[in-house]
Amino acid sequence: MATTVPGVSLSTCDLTMPVIGMGTMGHPPVPPETLKAAIIEAIKAGYRHFDTAFAYRTEQPLGEAIAEALKLGLIKSRDELFITTKLWATFGEKELVVPCLKISLSNLKLDYVDLYLIHWPLKLSQEVRQMPVEKEHLFPLDMKSVWEGMEECKNLGLAKAIGVSNFTCKKLEELLATAKIPPAVNQVEMNPLWRQKKLREFCKPKGIHVSAFTPLGANNTKWGDNRILGCDVIEEIAKSKGKTPAQISLRWLYEQGVSIIAKSFNSERMKQNLDIFDWSLTEEESNKISQLPQRKGVLLEPVLGSHDLVLQLQAEILEDGLDS
Ligand SMILES: NC(=O)c1ccc[n+]([C@@H]2O[C@H](COP(=O)([O-])OP(=O)(O)OC[C@H]3O[C@@H](n4cnc5c(N)ncnc54)[C@H](OP(=O)(O)O)[C@@H]3O)[C@@H](O)[C@H]2O)c1
Repeated sequence: MATTVPGVSLSTCDLTMPVIGMGTMGHPPVPPETLKAAIIEAIKAGYRHFDTAFAYRTEQPLGEAIAEALKLGLIKSRDELFITTKLWATFGEKELVVPCLKISLSNLKLDYVDLYLIHWPLKLSQEVRQMPVEKEHLFPLDMKSVWEGMEECKNLGLAKAIGVSNFTCKKLEELLATAKIPPAVNQVEMNPLWRQKKLREFCKPKGIHVSAFTPLGANNTKWGDNRILGCDVIEEIAKSKGKTPAQISLRWLYEQGVSIIAKSFNSERMKQNLDIFDWSLTEEESNKISQLPQRKGVLLEPVLGSHDLVLQLQAEILEDGLDS
């Protein structure tokens, strides 16, 4: 039987977002047909929330999977799904925001997305061709004007909610200083080894919901490893409860009040990752996890290069992740 995933209410809109979403960015990238089949399996298992981005090149197969799920009667209406996509950094100008979302909607074959996020608080030139990026292709984001473009997406009904990703407390402060509609979500890396305490404390009173990507440490990808799934403390807790390390990590995140974007294209593991709602961690288990030494996984420098702008953002991100 399919699992029913609980939802969380988002500010500034009438939407409820399922607390577990399926990530669509895998490594190495899978053929579109494989991704489409995985999404259909995920819908059968109970997933109703999918996370994509212009930059992932997974919008098209996701759109095809949604159309197929409707045809198969797995869902009655598109409204049963919660779809997130993201503005890529090469579209980091006010007048490019609505057109970028329109490209995403055309890829997805949808009239609206539930959540539209600024992917990174940086702008890249349209000419960027390689990673790490050369200095002349990297710019600060004009927060005020790009956010006006995001607000237009919401006002036009192309996105039900708008938010950000990879934003630090400092970047959020800058955004909030001029935003007419505050961001509903900040999607950032968060897991038992990167707990984002300072950022969460900043976001909570402002009604900005934190969503956790890389919740399992992105094992077997080029940006991750087994630091979480192979962590002694997590393995020990998992063994004593008859659960897997992945379930312990996901349950810990759920108990912190954040939503989770986890990726598995394997039908058994995707089901396992939903099976976290009818049991809990003891206070002692939770405390043990909250005391693990911190280690950020996804780093910017290897992707964006050692430029001042990148190093400054990286320093802000590392500071936000501290426990106090
Ligand atoms: N906003 C951003 O900048 C940003 C950055 C990174 C990621 N994201 C989003 O977040 C999603 C998830 O993050 P992520 O892909 O970095 O990492 P993740 O979800 O932490 O880990 C994915 C890896 O874990 C494996 N896995 C999944 N469930 C498992 C289980 N129960 N037991 C053992 N292994 C398991 C997957 O392999 P199998 O598929 O073989 O199960 C895959 O190799 C992405 O797909 C993307 O949508 C957003």
